[in-house]
Amino acid sequence: SGPHEFVVVANRLPVDVSVPDEGREGEISWSRSPGGLVSALQPVMQKQDGAWVGWSGTPDLTLDPFDADGMRLCPVPLSGQEVEEYYEGLSNGTLWPLYHDVIVDPEYHRLWWNSYVTINRRFAHAAAEVAAEGGTVWVHDYQLQLVPSMLRTLRPDVRIGFFNHIPFPSPEIFSQLPWRKQIVEGLLGADLVGFQRGSDAANFLRSVRRLTDLTTRGQVVTIGSRWARPERHVRAAAFPISIDALAISELAQTEPVMRRAVEIRHELGDPDVLMLGVDRLDYTKGIGHRLKAFGELLRDGALTAPETTLVQVASPSRERVEQYRVLRDEVEGTVGRINGDYGVMGRPAVHYLHHSYPTEEMVALYLASDVMLVTALRDGMNLVAKEYVAARTDLGGVLVLSEFAGAADELSQALLVNPHDIDGVKQAIVRAIEMEPKERRRRMRALRKRVLDNDVQHWADSFLSVLTATPRRDSHV
Ligand code: G6P
Repeated sequence: SGPHEFVVVANRLPVDVSVPDEGREGEISWSRSPGGLVSALQPVMQKQDGAWVGWSGTPDLTLDPFDADGMRLCPVPLSGQEVEEYYEGLSNGTLWPLYHDVIVDPEYHRLWWNSYVTINRRFAHAAAEVAAEGGTVWVHDYQLQLVPSMLRTLRPDVRIGFFNHIPFPSPEIFSQLPWRKQIVEGLLGADLVGFQRGSDAANFLRSVRRLTDLTTRGQVVTIGSRWARPERHVRAAAFPISIDALAISELAQTEPVMRRAVEIRHELGDPDVLMLGVDRLDYTKGIGHRLKAFGELLRDGALTAPETTLVQVASPSRERVEQYRVLRDEVEGTVGRINGDYGVMGRPAVHYLHHSYPTEEMVALYLASDVMLVTALRDGMNLVAKEYVAARTDLGGVLVLSEFAGAADELSQALLVNPHDIDGVKQAIVRAIEMEPKERRRRMRALRKRVLDNDVQHWADSFLSVLTATPRRDSHV
């Protein structure tokens, strides 16, 4: 297919590619990966003949571009070593912990950085090749922060948007990065830089002022000067991401999902209270803090197991990165201790599930539970909190939500907690369990309105309408 008016650039393609095991016969196949981002972008993709540039998720795999669900997918290949250095290394061993306020120590390796530069250039070239003259390119997330400026050099004619899905740290923390200036300059290649929270955008603008000699006014950075045209403006603002709320809400009202919710409680031995945690197994999620609070409530006798049961879904993530292995051992050790101390025959206090599940099963779990625990230590948004709310069409369930998740800005009717304050988390859990049905419904109604009114479509539309309203580079105002 020819050039594309609208191009998305993200580390991952929106499909799961499966390759037959080595030596086995069979075709390479793909299935659409679940997630709001694809569904939100689908309408724009179809209307504007969109293309998506990204990695297949499999090292050492070279694939030709192919069509899927009405869009063109353009795979960017990564070798095994590049996966180690660019993805596991700089993206997830350096930037991820740094941007989440150094919950674990970021590692700084020049080799990783060199690879990050190389791979960002590869993505920029791939985007430059498929974008139509004067088209729009939307770059996503921390793995690709150099792409905006690289792409601008290659293709000054295209409009470039960037969205950062994770937090942006304060300049005090960001300054640790040996390549801080390159990152800021990379992002400033975009016309619009979007963040989850207002505080993330403000942090970015503070770093711009600290690390460059550019001037900022409100949300706008000016590059060049009126005397040395062309002058260019970069806008930095918050666009809180969301979910396909209607889809989740409708799914929650289907017969099989509702039946499954009842069945899940049965399978767990019909506890009086079912609490739920759902996370990627990541140290930013505060799973240990949540388990500590639960364990102490059992120790204090404020709760008893198995009358009160916790289901913790921890989906496998980045398992080759050292800090994720350490975390897994810690979490599994804690779960084992709690179950050893408070479980009874056939009825553990914590049901720990190191799997990922299809959306139907997740929605059934949301519906089955009485209390949802989101205790992230730092989180760009936390879509699980929004999914929980969207699923509770029955107005049941109480959301306990960390104030350090971006979702807290919008979901103020949740019970907001500081996850580091274990006593505060314990009190919130007890309060959630004891909450009167009337208050529960009132809170859930308000939360649902918020999430259904501000869905992922709204997010994509807001970002793209601001992006397309930015004047072109050569049209001087
Ligand atoms: C976060 C990031 C995404 C990333 C996802 C899953 O949500 O913001 O960019 O794709 O985690 O992590 P993974 O490393 O498996 O892509």
